[in-house]
Amino acid sequence: MSTPKKTTTEAKAKPVTAPDIQAMKGGEKICCMTAYDYPSGLIVDQAGVDLVLVGDSLAMVVLGREDTLSVTVDEMVHHTRAAARGVRRALLVADMPFMSFATVERALCTAHRLMGEGGARAVKLEGGRAVVPQITALVEAGVPVMAHVGLTPQHVAKFGGFKAQGKSAEATRVLIEDAQAVEEAGAFSVVLEAMPVEAARLVTEAVTIPTIGIGAGNVTDGQILVYHDALGLFDRFTPKFVRRFAELGEASRKAVEMYCAEVRKTTFPGDKNTFYMPEAELAQVRKIKVKPKKK
Ligand code: KIV
Repeated sequence: MSTPKKTTTEAKAKPVTAPDIQAMKGGEKICCMTAYDYPSGLIVDQAGVDLVLVGDSLAMVVLGREDTLSVTVDEMVHHTRAAARGVRRALLVADMPFMSFATVERALCTAHRLMGEGGARAVKLEGGRAVVPQITALVEAGVPVMAHVGLTPQHVAKFGGFKAQGKSAEATRVLIEDAQAVEEAGAFSVVLEAMPVEAARLVTEAVTIPTIGIGAGNVTDGQILVYHDALGLFDRFTPKFVRRFAELGEASRKAVEMYCAEVRKTTFPGDKNTFYMPEAELAQVRKIKVKPKKK
């Protein structure tokens, strides 16, 4: 008899763990989103996502950089710690930045910082067969690992841009082998980024760990989106696979324009936003003579 799959509703009662996510393979779709600080962590957690990723995408959507390559372990720890204060239920995963897991030793140090100082409960790293030694060592050390194959943004220089992967039979075979290798090494799930839905379906069928898609169609075990993309807060470009579920950038701009207009008209702050002197003090206050300071 097969083990019953866990649903989000069952998992809601207690904090979600990496084994909980792994057990959701083939069951209810796993809902994941990025967050980078206390307010975004709180919002995505309260909205009921299963997994929150502090992605190195923060380099672009929060810090305004061209790509993710320059983000440091210190920056990731800082943002992970902030997000951790808002995330109460979902599994908090932190991304290992470019080159911070180039060797097994560095991978262990980075994971130690992201979990020990940052409060993450798992880490994510980009790569397939090439990072098997790192995944094996991390898992042996007690670190739950999420892998990431397909379009791996840390390899943007090698790919020559943010380009979809797995577009041929041979490339699909490579993706399958990579996903099976990270599963074998002990990863509890794997992100599939920017690939044809047919390739994503084959990879999903080829592994027993959940696949989390972004730009991989609706055949994966779960989905992930970047918070700023989904909420309309990042304007530089919108990848084909993004759906904007709100236009918070536009709404925020309009709100700040209204604020400026009210300040200039002196209608803000209004009565409700103003402190007044207690009646008993007023007579004394009126006696205060203010001498303008000489320039
Ligand atoms: O950094 C990130 O936000 C990611 C997701 C797109 C999966 O890696």
